[in-house]
Amino acid sequence: MTVRIAQVSDAHLSADKPFFAGNFARIAEDIRAGGFDFLVATGDLNLLGENDEAALAHGVRAHAAIGPELLCVPGNHDVGNDTARPQNVATPERVARWNRQAGPSAWVRDLPGWRLVGLDCQSLDFHEAQWAVLAEALSGLGTRQLALIQHMPLSVGDLADPRRLYWSMTPPMRARLMQALGERRPAVVISGHVHQWRDRVADGMRQVWAPSTAFILGDAFQPSYGSKLVGWVEHAFHPDGRYDARLRTVDGLRLDDIGQMPQVYRAMPTLAERPDLWDTP
Ligand SMILES: [Fe+2]
Ligand SMILES: [Fe+2]
Repeated sequence: MTVRIAQVSDAHLSADKPFFAGNFARIAEDIRAGGFDFLVATGDLNLLGENDEAALAHGVRAHAAIGPELLCVPGNHDVGNDTARPQNVATPERVARWNRQAGPSAWVRDLPGWRLVGLDCQSLDFHEAQWAVLAEALSGLGTRQLALIQHMPLSVGDLADPRRLYWSMTPPMRARLMQALGERRPAVVISGHVHQWRDRVADGMRQVWAPSTAFILGDAFQPSYGSKLVGWVEHAFHPDGRYDARLRTVDGLRLDDIGQMPQVYRAMPTLAERPDLWDTP
């Protein structure tokens, strides 16, 4: 039996600042009508969920209310940045809040022919229990195909890309993950965080980036790696190991540019003003 999964990402929901609730409601309705087996949320469920548990709970609840069983991994706006970034880093306390509201940081879900592994890449560098979950998932993989689900893409370029960009795992963390994966390289890596749609094969892995349901960053503020739009993604995992991904959009969604909305997070310099804007020192 083919398992059909709807993926939403980067909804950036907030009870106090409901800028992006309209898009989320339209997309939720679309997903509800589709009869999916699971809903995957790839992080940044919340606008400021890293700051307090009530805010975090709001976004998790809204995702669970869509209907299909929710499988989710946190983003930097749920538990903070990975510790390679200079500000607002993930802490054990923030991770514990996520675990109370959303479940384990690392999880495994078996489908016919497939094993899904969800990871919190924001806390991988200090949350050692996740590596044990991954090792056990790999040792029992058998003939199943592996799909990895996490907030940040492995890389913006290929695995050897030396850049330390805000938009992907840093090279040292990526190297540690690839070493842990060893021979069992995932067939598919599903992520969010960049707020761009992209579907490509690189380094022998299908790498699918979901767009945000909420907003894009305009070209003045972020390079284009894929397509800047809002929407969601439909995945089909077939028992024989085949896999399909399809971008879904909904009529009437707002295409907000966060660079033009300083009231949401902060005023953002343009790339012309700060070419190093997204470099991680
Ligand atoms: Fe995001
Ligand atoms: Fe993010």
